[in-house]
Amino acid sequence: MNVGERHYRTIWLSDDNRSVEIIDQRWLPHEFRVERIGTVAGIATAIRDMWVRGAPLIGVTAAFGVAIQMTDDPSDAALDAVWETLHKTRPTAINLRWALDEMRRLLKPLAPEQRAKAAYRRAAEIADEDVGLNRAIGENGLAIIKEIAAKKKPGETVNILTHCNAGWLATVDYGTATAPIYLATEAGIPVHVYVDETRPRNQGAQLTAWEMAGHGVPHTLIVDNAGGHLMQHGDIDMVIVGTDRTTANGDVCNKIGTYLKALAAADNDVPFYVALPSPTIDWTVADGLAEIPIEERSGDEVSLVWGKTADGKVAQVRVSPDATPAANPAFDVTPARLVTGLITERGVAKASREGLKAMFPERG
Ligand code: MRU
Repeated sequence: MNVGERHYRTIWLSDDNRSVEIIDQRWLPHEFRVERIGTVAGIATAIRDMWVRGAPLIGVTAAFGVAIQMTDDPSDAALDAVWETLHKTRPTAINLRWALDEMRRLLKPLAPEQRAKAAYRRAAEIADEDVGLNRAIGENGLAIIKEIAAKKKPGETVNILTHCNAGWLATVDYGTATAPIYLATEAGIPVHVYVDETRPRNQGAQLTAWEMAGHGVPHTLIVDNAGGHLMQHGDIDMVIVGTDRTTANGDVCNKIGTYLKALAAADNDVPFYVALPSPTIDWTVADGLAEIPIEERSGDEVSLVWGKTADGKVAQVRVSPDATPAANPAFDVTPARLVTGLITERGVAKASREGLKAMFPERG
């Protein structure tokens, strides 16, 4: 997507053809910083400490991490070690394991001297594929927005609520939950987005709001607890969120707080959609609540909040007493029964084993 006049992806190969450059998301919306990363340790830090984040982008970044490792040492042992190192960085987003498995599956049969070239080529392909998948999700989600708009008076706005950031910053380009929104805006359909701030790290306030503003999408920031109230008053036409891992049964794991939005949506007959590319489906897992590991992050993310001070410095402030402990589960699971539909690159699937099987018969 464009930042000012320039088109950016969230990750690209540097001009040394070895390192990658990424948008360091920790500083947004206050500062737009690009970092160059040329080591596996640097890639691991960028994923763990959330310089890059969002399930698809984590996967693509890890794929480039494998490529960097193959330049340094293309041995079998190094390939297994980089898989382990990067797999440990964030446990919930399945795209990470998907990308690492994909790289290892491709590289293992090759002679070591062929691996670096093949790894960079496949990492670049995974990045390009992500853009294509999101564009297709956008088209399929646009059809839903059009249906909702058609039931309204001509020119009336479609109000969409989203949680966290499943935007272009969470992917390589377009985003998943945001792709239909961007395409609807381009098609001239009046949409307005309620952006959940998404405590504790405020990906909604800091990233989604920045994206919406940058692309001229009318939007309003709300606190995480406002969604239910707005739904009760008929102010939300649909919810679209992303996901870090969706099970073969259609249970959806996403940023903490998603489940509460789904409950409120069900109670108020508001359609609740999840946008996802197929690498986010974990075909090995059925019951999301029992089987998906939920990342537990530092309590400091709850107690300390980043912002910009009046004198223009980006800094943290403490919001709770020094001695108060904080728990920070980063994701929750929304049972399939609360999900209206899964917007995939192939179409909108029912959130059920049968629905996903029908959409991806080769995986069922
Ligand atoms: O902790 P984050 O910021 O990586 O969490 C991101 C999300 O929860 C997104 O909704 C999800 O990764 C889908 S991104 C297309």
